[in-house]
Amino acid sequence: MINHSFIQPDFSLRHHNTFGIDAKAHAYLRVESIEDVQFVRSNSALTQLPHLVLGGGSNILLTRDFDGLILHMCNRGIQIIGEDSHATYVRAAAGENWHDFVQWTLDQGLAGLENLSLIPGSVGAAPIQNIGAYGTELQDYFHNLSAFDFDTGETGVLHRAECAFGYRDSIFKHRLRSRMIILDVTFALPKQWQPNLRYAELAQALSAMSNAPTARQISDMVIAIRRRKLPDPAVIGNAGSFFKNPVVPPAQRTTLLAAHPQLVSYVQGDGNYKLAAGWLIDQCGWKGKTLGCAGVYEMQALVLVNRGGASGKEIAQLAAAIQADVRERFGIMLEPEPMYV
Ligand code: EPU
Repeated sequence: MINHSFIQPDFSLRHHNTFGIDAKAHAYLRVESIEDVQFVRSNSALTQLPHLVLGGGSNILLTRDFDGLILHMCNRGIQIIGEDSHATYVRAAAGENWHDFVQWTLDQGLAGLENLSLIPGSVGAAPIQNIGAYGTELQDYFHNLSAFDFDTGETGVLHRAECAFGYRDSIFKHRLRSRMIILDVTFALPKQWQPNLRYAELAQALSAMSNAPTARQISDMVIAIRRRKLPDPAVIGNAGSFFKNPVVPPAQRTTLLAAHPQLVSYVQGDGNYKLAAGWLIDQCGWKGKTLGCAGVYEMQALVLVNRGGASGKEIAQLAAAIQADVRERFGIMLEPEPMYV
């Protein structure tokens, strides 16, 4: 059981957000188990403070110091909890590193998560924005999760339908934001696995192989593509894609296409079109540009970077300038992917 002495006051979050922004938290606690969260909830001094649950810090923008308590999820553990004729069920604690978890599943010969290799962040944060890459989303292999309800003090299991997964979206970004603390996530990894090569660049990269690729080979290729196109947060501070790809109805896409024949768009299951936000930003001339200490990554205009010593405000100012230009030129308001704190 923890006590007050484990709570660190005036704590720098610099090494706990992948932008590397030097903001401070009023108080900070490493959460190793559910008892730590229960302790916080039962302590009236602590419940008065706003709290922020932190995973790998790869999807937040700290625009100022946080005047509350950071609950940093650090619980660990990965295990196979069962199987049936369709799937093997694997449970991972929220504090596990996402990429290490994916590699662990592949080491066990379990396929499914390979397209999601090298995504920064933690297992517990992954459902919040339904992480996705190279044609796969977390929801495709999600089974359920357990979460501590800060309002009731109870732990419950949430199934897929209750999580309301969408494109980089879930109920944890809305109604249950800051109420539910995700403790662990269980995945159903299929017994009958097929490689997912829907994403053209991945299919192209693997096309020279004579046999169908293994999950491990796909993982290795995804890692190679990501390393080529995306900055390593350990070297250049960033939070991956800074904006969501906007989804527009067919009529709006037709109008845009008439004015911009090179427009990059992908039809969705519902007939709407997803536009490449990176292309829109690129067309506005922002790629490689710098504003203060914040910049737009040279290889991928969708990624904002900390060029060294940037504040969260500077990143937010750059994001706002990009939003204004894209709106003026294309009539589209880009929506940030990371959560502003
Ligand atoms: N493009 C440009 N200029 C740029 C960037 C992109 O013209 O500077 C155009 C290119 O035509 C390119 C297209 O946009 O073909 C799409 O770019 P890319 O394949 O790099 O994918 P994205 O739409 O920019 C999305 C995800 C990424 C994910 C990749 C691969 C979002 C917001 N981003 O990026 O996710 O890795 O697809 O699946 O959906 C993340 O969420 O942090 C992230 C990195």
